[in-house]
Amino acid sequence: MARKKIALIGSGMIGGTLAHLAAKAEMGDVVLFDIAEGMPQGKALDLSQCGPVEGFDAKITGTNDYADLAGADVVIVTAGVPRKPGMSRDDLLGINLSVMKAVGEGIKNNCPNAFVICITNPLDAMVWALREFSGLPHNMVVGMAGVLDSARFATFLAWEFDCSVKDVNAFVLGGHGDTMVPVLSYSTINGIPVKDMAKIKGIPESRLDEIVARTRAGGGEIVGLLKTGSAYYAPATSAISMAQAYLGDQKRILPCASYVEGKYGVDGLYVGVPTRIGAGGTEDVIEIELSDEEANNLKVSVDAVEELLDACRGLDASLV
Ligand code: APR
Repeated sequence: MARKKIALIGSGMIGGTLAHLAAKAEMGDVVLFDIAEGMPQGKALDLSQCGPVEGFDAKITGTNDYADLAGADVVIVTAGVPRKPGMSRDDLLGINLSVMKAVGEGIKNNCPNAFVICITNPLDAMVWALREFSGLPHNMVVGMAGVLDSARFATFLAWEFDCSVKDVNAFVLGGHGDTMVPVLSYSTINGIPVKDMAKIKGIPESRLDEIVARTRAGGGEIVGLLKTGSAYYAPATSAISMAQAYLGDQKRILPCASYVEGKYGVDGLYVGVPTRIGAGGTEDVIEIELSDEEANNLKVSVDAVEELLDACRGLDASLV
């Protein structure tokens, strides 16, 4: 059986990290695409030379030609510009929307059967636009945000409770922005609800609120420290787990920016919800019961996503 083909559109900080992780995990052969000439080829060469040391046989190539993406099984999109200190994800909308148009057409014309994972920000709007421009079925286009946001939440909870991250199950819903909804009621330490664990450990609720706030601002905290770009290691590894769920038909339930129609009172947009990923792409959206406060927070988040979609429509008349 031929090896799987993983195409990475955007070969910057996240793209390069994705290539390394995909090759190391022997997920398949990797094609790095970018508009910058020489850069994807240079990264591909450098990464190929990791093979003998790390013991992987994956073939890694770089290209500026969309035709080289033909036959890709998975496409991960990071093309665009990242944030600088002081910018919100939404500030990237105009420039990254035009990038999504070029990328969507490239996918439509060269690898329309791929499972497409979008990482470019502002995520919930960009994954929607990418789906519109590519014309792929909704179940084959998904956004990576929830796995990352949950990982950030889990990291902070594990630090607070002084326990292994392996035992933390942290749950985040909603858009990938300041309105995201870390849901404490569904977050557990190996099955023990976080709020109960806090009582056991004598940790006040206000401290949990601080952790929720830090999670919401988790990306901005890293941008502020890096100064020249945004996070890339955790975003890349999060997207890899989603690609593996698809390629291995793992039926994992992961928080993803999925197309929601009817559930959560949402009608036809991409937002972060628990999603089953398997060979059918995003196979199911799981609608959980929320408290009034959580449902309200989710509504605020969904409204924020709606506003971004309206802004996209205002910028590109082909979007309806
Ligand atoms: N087609 C392909 N690649 C493009 C295009 C395009 N039209 N426009 C820009 N690029 C490339 C750039 O040349 C650059 O190499 O996208 C790459 C982006 O890489 P970085 O600037 O290093 O950004 P990165 O940190 O990887 O983040 C990418 O993911 O998390 C989001 O907010 C982040 O939107 C940003 C994206």
